[in-house]
Amino acid sequence: MEPPEMINAGELVLKRWEIEWAPAAVAAIQDSLPELRQFLPWATDGYGLEESREYIARSRADWDAGTQFNYAIFTTIGELAGSIGLMTRMGPGVLEIGYWTGTPYAGRGYMTAAVRALSRVALTLPGIERVAIKHDEANKASAAVAVKAGFQEVAREPREVEAPGESGLTIIRELSLPA
Ligand SMILES: CC(C)(COP(=O)(O)OP(=O)(O)OC[C@H]1O[C@@H](n2cnc3c(N)ncnc32)[C@H](O)[C@@H]1OP(=O)(O)O)[C@@H](O)C(=O)NCCC(=O)NCCS
Repeated sequence: MEPPEMINAGELVLKRWEIEWAPAAVAAIQDSLPELRQFLPWATDGYGLEESREYIARSRADWDAGTQFNYAIFTTIGELAGSIGLMTRMGPGVLEIGYWTGTPYAGRGYMTAAVRALSRVALTLPGIERVAIKHDEANKASAAVAVKAGFQEVAREPREVEAPGESGLTIIRELSLPA
């Protein structure tokens, strides 16, 4: 089971992470820290080249191992607009999507387009019947993305607060293969 290394999503293209994009990733993350740090515990002032290279190297190894498929999101003119990935950690039959958008690119419908494209691909993979998005109840932008992309709430569960914007209540939303 392996998704394509490149996915077209309208105005955007999703590409499997490459080590040489680490400096662009650091710049995007540092520029977006006030928004990202609210919900992503790893987004801190100390996030630099070493952390980014480590993330990309791990992403590449996880891809080869078939456990996670992480993509950088580029605009048509090659700007790094964010990141999105598929994770197998929820178990067989389901892939979980995680994401962030760089602040200069937020609110343009980019993540909704990326989620739609990646979900479509995920649901064609052998054995995959559902795609899930988990977000904190306070993360209204993430909720809006999931709802716009057609995901429906299936559960709510308490979770330890790890980032300052979180309420501690996680909402799980899923999109399933048509019956
Ligand atoms: C969540 C995130 C990826 C959305 O990216 P994006 O590219 O701006 O998403 P889109 O433009 O496709 O859609 C965003 C939607 O959220 C809405 N939104 C943004 N902030 C909001 C808020 N505070 N309250 C309600 N809705 C909000 C926007 O209005 C938009 O919906 P609309 O098109 O119906 O108006 C981005 O905000 C982000 O990176 N947040 C920080 C990291 C994060 O939370 N990642 C997800 C963890 S589960």
